[in-house]
Amino acid sequence: MRSLIVLTVLLPILTWATLPPPQGSYNILFIFPHTTKSHWILHMSLATALADRGHKITMISNHPPSNKHPNISEINHNIEEIDLDNFNVFEFESSPESFFSYFIHTYQVLGEKMYKIQEVKELYNKRKEFDLIVIDSYVNEVAYPFAYEMPFITITGLGIEEIHSAVMGNVINPSYVPSTNVDFTYPMTLIQRAINVFESIKFSFYHRKVYSIPTLQAEITKHFPDLPPIEELERNVSLSLFNTHYSQDMTQPLLPSQIDVAGMHCRPARPLPQALAQWIEEAEHGVIYFSLGSIVRGEFLPVKYRNIILEAFAKMKQRIIWKFEKNLEGCPDNVLIQKWLPQQDILAHPNVKVFITHGGLLSSQETIYHGTPIVALPVFYDQPKVAAKMENAGFGIRLDWEKLTVPLLIETLNEVIDNPKYAQATSQASLLFRDQMDTPINRAVWWTEYVIRHQGAPALRCPGADLSWIEFLCLDVLFLAHLVVFTLFWGAKKLLAIACRDNKKEKEE
Ligand SMILES: *[C@@H]1O[C@H](CO)[C@@H](O)[C@H](O)[C@H]1NC(C)=O
Ligand SMILES: *[C@@H]1O[C@H](CO)[C@@H](O)[C@H](O)[C@H]1NC(C)=O
Repeated sequence: MRSLIVLTVLLPILTWATLPPPQGSYNILFIFPHTTKSHWILHMSLATALADRGHKITMISNHPPSNKHPNISEINHNIEEIDLDNFNVFEFESSPESFFSYFIHTYQVLGEKMYKIQEVKELYNKRKEFDLIVIDSYVNEVAYPFAYEMPFITITGLGIEEIHSAVMGNVINPSYVPSTNVDFTYPMTLIQRAINVFESIKFSFYHRKVYSIPTLQAEITKHFPDLPPIEELERNVSLSLFNTHYSQDMTQPLLPSQIDVAGMHCRPARPLPQALAQWIEEAEHGVIYFSLGSIVRGEFLPVKYRNIILEAFAKMKQRIIWKFEKNLEGCPDNVLIQKWLPQQDILAHPNVKVFITHGGLLSSQETIYHGTPIVALPVFYDQPKVAAKMENAGFGIRLDWEKLTVPLLIETLNEVIDNPKYAQATSQASLLFRDQMDTPINRAVWWTEYVIRHQGAPALRCPGADLSWIEFLCLDVLFLAHLVVFTLFWGAKKLLAIACRDNKKEKEE
């Protein structure tokens, strides 16, 4: 199976060359004032691909500049409260209430502070010099004033995101697509579908009409009293790059302006650093790779969980590579700890038997791309859903932190390592994920340039985006139909009454 995968590695490399040269060098502004590190990595892969083609990229984000590319210039807005690098998700209670209080705070701070920053103000004033604006559609609505009278596209690190999809005129059908806020998998039971419909409506209603957007709008109006409302600006979006692929999510109708670019950041393995390669190759029983990603920082891992994990690892015959930000005391000999690791190159190594993951979407795409089975320990947000999906697809087993014990962890790891069905399912999914006409990154680059070439590409626009929800759901048509039926009945009844009366009169005469 692995050799098949090695063969398919060649495909993306060969297709790389097929993109025609760009028509010019464009000026593109990326705005991601609120992104996690992993989403930033994803967006950066697009920025880099565009910069390689000679376009000039300017990027506003909440991360310190780190890219050395001569065609990319980064600006960190430095708003203290939006420091997602030091966010303790283990203390974040994943209830709707805590999400909304987080959102309200975030939107308030961003709305109030972002346009007071000198560099942001300057960029705003010369925004018309750009050929295109790229905005993260999730929790980054503060960027939409930039989009006023400008062609812009959105990108998201999440899968197909129902609120933004609806804005574009494609309302995701909750009868078969589980919303981001539930961890159901397809097919859903009647009760699950009921909850799903209710949750999707509730979340968008609270987000757009009650909490997040009204909070932000109040702040934005102070800075830009003459701009149209944020929701109206957002509606003018030309195209969206969604972090999804039918082989991983599910087949669902997409507009021509909704481009699936999942795996945009995935790439064939590069050689590992010498010491790491040796550590992996010399592991007689294989290697377990453990990383909780960038948002779930290992150093925030509660001590009781850390102890369970360490104790279980000490009893495994495999070697373990653990991405952890600090030195760990009492670390067993078979465990190698490093702050930063070349995750994709590790996952691609045939001696790496299992990936213990938090179930982040990007990690899940990397593990599928490289065909490595998983044990998932999801923490918050979309992670339980992604983990449930991977378990459902047979890529491994999902565990709950609350129920984690030493024997359970050992047993689960051994099951995924020893039972070949998990590796087979993952390899199969890998083949499906890689078997594409072009590469996700080429697709993303081509469509980004397309929108610039065609000044916002109005031909892509779905008329559904311009309808009110009453028109969209045909409620006015239903009302009209009722009216016609009612009028007909009423008319018929009246006619009948007149006819009866005349009849009676005739008889009396
Ligand atoms: C940067 O852009 C210029 C054209 O604007 C291009 O010639 C050059 O190759 C690009 N640099 C890199 C490192 O791709
Ligand atoms: C909507 O987008 C088009 C191009 O994409 C732009 O020309 C137009 O000014 C935008 N309208 C608003 C209100 O921003």
